[in-house]
Amino acid sequence: MSNEKMYNVKICTGTLCHVMGGAELPALIDFLPNSLQSKVKVTGMVCANYCKNPENKPPFVLINNELIQEASIEKIIKHIQKSELEF
Ligand code: FES
Repeated sequence: MSNEKMYNVKICTGTLCHVMGGAELPALIDFLPNSLQSKVKVTGMVCANYCKNPENKPPFVLINNELIQEASIEKIIKHIQKSELEF
């Protein structure tokens, strides 16, 4: 098991991200396919000021420190599944 890639998903809990859909994202854990359940860790993070750049689109999530914009549960799972294929 130790050679499995892990995914650290950090969901921004700042106000803007929260109202722009971030509030729904912790439910991600319930939607993970079985194959990913032991590999994904979901935590929150305080506003990291991604929202201060008007070109960025909330809500923001970091997956292993890679920024995901306009994050949705579906988008997060797709990103992880794509990384699994490349691993
Ligand atoms: S509220 Fe999420 S980055 Fe600022």
